Amino acid sequence: MAPPPVSETLELHDIQGLVLRGYGTLRAAQFLVLEIVDDELARAYLQGLVGRLNLARDSPAGVALQVAFTAKGLAKLGVPEGALATFSREFLEGMDDDVRAVSLGDLDGNESSGWRWGKRGEPMHVLLMVYAETQPILDRELAAERARFAGALAVLHERTTTTLAGNKEHFGWRDGISMPTIADVPKDPSRTKEKTEKKESWTDPLPAGEFVLGYKNDYQAFTECPTAELHDDPGDHLPRVPGEPRKSLGKNGTYLVFREMTQDVSAFWSYLAKESREPGADACARAIALGAKLVGRWPSGAPLATSPERDRPEQGGDNEFLYTHDTVGLACPRGAHIRRANPRDVHALEDRGHSASIAMVRKHQMIRRGRAFGPPVVATMEPEKIFAARDAPRADRGLHFICLVGDISRQFEFVQRNWIQSANFDSLYKDGDPLIAARRPEGHRNQNDEHTVAAEPLRRKYKRLPRFTQLVGGGYFFLPGIAALKFIARLP
Ligand code: HEM
Repeated sequence: MAPPPVSETLELHDIQGLVLRGYGTLRAAQFLVLEIVDDELARAYLQGLVGRLNLARDSPAGVALQVAFTAKGLAKLGVPEGALATFSREFLEGMDDDVRAVSLGDLDGNESSGWRWGKRGEPMHVLLMVYAETQPILDRELAAERARFAGALAVLHERTTTTLAGNKEHFGWRDGISMPTIADVPKDPSRTKEKTEKKESWTDPLPAGEFVLGYKNDYQAFTECPTAELHDDPGDHLPRVPGEPRKSLGKNGTYLVFREMTQDVSAFWSYLAKESREPGADACARAIALGAKLVGRWPSGAPLATSPERDRPEQGGDNEFLYTHDTVGLACPRGAHIRRANPRDVHALEDRGHSASIAMVRKHQMIRRGRAFGPPVVATMEPEKIFAARDAPRADRGLHFICLVGDISRQFEFVQRNWIQSANFDSLYKDGDPLIAARRPEGHRNQNDEHTVAAEPLRRKYKRLPRFTQLVGGGYFFLPGIAALKFIARLP
């Protein structure tokens, strides 16, 4: 049974807005990966930025700015060594760490030697995220921001995002449907009430500490949170850690995981077409149906768990389903992307009961804030048209996967390692996430290039799945609260 939500009031005035909203109405966005070239000027720039950031309490008005830092960036800005050492180990070591790369599965085509950005040697310090309603507004904002940080920061990389029709990702599936909610800021109070009464679903709001540092998490404990010495903070910006002679540097901040993944739309649809071919059948419809078996939802978003036979666009936003009735995966394959990424109520733990299973899955949720990049294959993003255009020349397109978590290791890394990448997820044998796992080569003890689709009377195994996505950049960042940003910027 999930513990009752902890009631603590979130300090919305001190939290960056991205924690609560993905800025969906701000359709244009640019992510700038920056190097600090002058520490003093960089702090001065950040001092000015404090008042321009969009906060969790603000509704976005045309434009939003957010800022995050790598461990190297915090060191360069002069965060004292002792304080820096209190950040989580994975943040300090970074995504591109040899041991971490093995455990995340960032090998076999996903290794950092092939990345466009985020490699260890790079002076990657700051991530500036700029969102705007339209491209002209974004261009204007970017020009103003560049003028402000000139001489202080240099642009290492710029990631331009695209909003695809129907909130789709490039393969043609609706994205951004399933999202955990935070107990203290219910999106829709009536829904939350109903959920709290049932208290048995993974969709029950989670305590804030799962995503925001300085609050209690789903263990009813405080997630590890960076701190500073009292004398580190002469400006007295940081709040005290209750009962400790230290200041909280993490309070109201969160960790941001960024993975840039290219998508080979042509390889995806060609594979679906080839593997689903059957004489006399509607080739496109069959390809879409196989694609749904890989994703776990139909292109409209309708879940296979509740709509196994055909797409039902009216169920496109449905997120209330469970897999309890579908343990073998006849409706939704056990290895489908969404079932791996979030197994909800059924998992290898099922023999310990439904509640234990939910309680476990709730510890591995992420707030996803990804955005696509690159041109769509077809502007309307209709799957039938993408299918028809599957031989069109490839282009540089994909997903900027971004998630916010209180604990990188327990949330993002756990999911990536044990659910996405593992060949043995949920008693499977040689499967890996069909969309995003790096494929281990033939004969490897963790070979994971198959996808098992349960069916009566015989299951079907899809073998030698090609790679449909590739990791081409990434990093771990800290998205600070406003008081922490003032401390980092040494605001007087
Ligand atoms: C190019 C890369 C990716 C593509 C095309 C993709 C696509 C999708 C789609 C179509 C959905 C269903 C929409 C929804 O439920 O919101 C989804 C859900 C999800 N994805 Fe991905 N995804 C990608 C990368 C990732 C990565 C890197 C992770 C984390 C390791 C991830 C974790 C999730 C999670 C947690 C869900 C929600 C599952 C649920 O609660 O049912 N995805 N993804």
